[in-house]
Amino acid sequence: MPAEQSSSPALENLSEETRTFPPSAEFAAAAVAGADVYERAAADRLGFWAEQARTLDWETPFTTVLDDSAAPRYGWFTDGRLNAAHNAVDRHVAAGHGDRVAILWEGEDGESRRVTYAELAQEVARAANALTALGVGTGDRVAIYLPMVPEAVVALLACARIGAPHSVVFGGFSAEALHSRILDAEATLVITADGGYRRGAASPLKPAVDDALAKGGTAVEHVLVVRRTGGEVEWTQGRDVWWHDVVPQASPEHEPVWVEAEHPLFILYTSGTTGKPKGIFHTTGGYLTQTSFTHRAVFDLQPETDVYWCTADIGWITGHSYVVYGPLLNGATQVIYEGTPDTPHRGRWWEIVQKYGVTILYTAPTAIRTCMKWGEDLPAGFDLSTLRVLGSVGEPINPEAWMWYRRVIGGDRTPIVDTWWQTETGAIMISPLPGVTAAKPGSAQVPLPGIVAEVLDDAGAPVDHGQGGYLAITEPWPAMLRGIWGDEQRFADTYWSRFPGTYFAGDGAKRDADGDIWLLGRVDDVMNVSGHRLSTTEIESALVSHPWVAEAAVVGAADETTGQAVVAFVILRGGEEVVDRPEGEDADERVVATLRAHVGTTIGPIAKPRSILVVAELPKTRSGKIMRRLLRDVAENRDVGDVTTLADSGVMGLIQQGMAKPS
Ligand code: WTA
Repeated sequence: MPAEQSSSPALENLSEETRTFPPSAEFAAAAVAGADVYERAAADRLGFWAEQARTLDWETPFTTVLDDSAAPRYGWFTDGRLNAAHNAVDRHVAAGHGDRVAILWEGEDGESRRVTYAELAQEVARAANALTALGVGTGDRVAIYLPMVPEAVVALLACARIGAPHSVVFGGFSAEALHSRILDAEATLVITADGGYRRGAASPLKPAVDDALAKGGTAVEHVLVVRRTGGEVEWTQGRDVWWHDVVPQASPEHEPVWVEAEHPLFILYTSGTTGKPKGIFHTTGGYLTQTSFTHRAVFDLQPETDVYWCTADIGWITGHSYVVYGPLLNGATQVIYEGTPDTPHRGRWWEIVQKYGVTILYTAPTAIRTCMKWGEDLPAGFDLSTLRVLGSVGEPINPEAWMWYRRVIGGDRTPIVDTWWQTETGAIMISPLPGVTAAKPGSAQVPLPGIVAEVLDDAGAPVDHGQGGYLAITEPWPAMLRGIWGDEQRFADTYWSRFPGTYFAGDGAKRDADGDIWLLGRVDDVMNVSGHRLSTTEIESALVSHPWVAEAAVVGAADETTGQAVVAFVILRGGEEVVDRPEGEDADERVVATLRAHVGTTIGPIAKPRSILVVAELPKTRSGKIMRRLLRDVAENRDVGDVTTLADSGVMGLIQQGMAKPS
């Protein structure tokens, strides 16, 4: 059984969970996915995906569906050529939908903008011309570090239009994290903004780009800067260029660069089990096929009437697949909101749902649990009656949060889709289908049509119903990652070696008595905090990079709101080389504050530990391995489990005494 199971919120109530919510007859009759979709996909899996791929425009139609000759580096639709931006935008204009609103943008400060498909097409073409004029060629990498403004969507699509893979770095990452990602991808251009609005204030972004580039070693020639906040920015002549000086002036005519289906579309860094983030890379044809199919089927999208809203930031895969590519490929009208849910008040999200008549809402369990804490009076103050499908992503959703989401936000009538997938899978893999599947609170339930997933035991055999094990994807899928940028070996080792030939997801899972799949959290050293992936090792190396720290161990402890929280244990250095360390009564508190801030600058504020405990020793096996399981017990206030394999069994007593003190 995976070790992490005990800390998973999905486990509460698991044994008693028997409620199901079958779709209403009315919903079922109109379901976009169609009642026979599973049978069709099962009868001819590759034919099913080919049919989905043909819903896109191909400049050169494909004849090969799956190329498995270089597995696990699979290829899909390999002899076809297409362009992602053409499919996301121009195609809809050509079909007569140019006046349809693509983006209903809501700034945190109350500013708003509407962008139609025709306007978006022009803007993307102009930006593509501007990128070319700045020297970006097909195949060159572009780093994007932007807030949630319409230009972010334009920037991604402009890159795609010229076949320049984008590498989006979440705006909450530090200059150091940005630097390492720019270096790893050898990006030649960075697109950023002066800043964005968060929590009621302008939050600068450009300084982090300046700092990142000042660290040196990059291939960056230009920085293209969007003006959003109007704040002061430092300017490097010759390198920095204002977006408004080059994009509006560029021609709105642009011939897209038709690329092979396997041409890289983007790189997106995510945390793995080592300190170094992995550059997950995705290609074009298969990724677009699966993001568009899943966006249609899983959200029951009716592009003419729906108003869709996914609250994810473009810095994460959910923003790539379900803010940028999926919705636009399907010609949807969507809301994009710049800021935080509680600015200027805690009803902001519900006010937005009411203002735009949102019909489909896709968010994360951590946000739902936060709203639960704020109380149901808040959403009750707004008209949410337009909502008809609710989605959840990023971490297990516990049945209580699921029920609250359905009752309070969904008026007890909306289907909920709990969607399991990963940066690596590119698109949704396991989820109920609204109007087709009878939903079960807390379970992601069934692999989508065309996807084959299993729960395997240690030996790689499928588990029986009622049993737990490891989630694996046993057949290749169109949107699968094609590798880790620049590190083929790590790709093979991380995903394809645990069960040879089968994709190992790194998640624990269980099949219930009906065979439905329940996700139980990570089984490796990856934490999931508010739906964001963080690596224990990465935070440990950030801590030991501080001169006061000799050794550090980090665990993800269960947290009611954020799913998991980062808890760190550190041993401080002794001896003379330690300078400036606080002394006296509140020394530990001051050390802890400094170390939290240090993690914030090394990785980003999201990685700051909830608590840091200064300890004299860490629990280790006789071979010197830190026993994180025991630290997790401590962090979650549980009785400490079996300590017989510890080199020094007294260590845990000391740590527990320390934990009793506030840190
Ligand atoms: C977790 C986010 C349970 C899981 C799209 C996975 C989930 C990791 C769910 C990927 C879900 C995502 N139920 N767990 N519905 N969705 N996860 O790469 O542990 O940021 O491996 O992709 O999030 O996180 P990532």
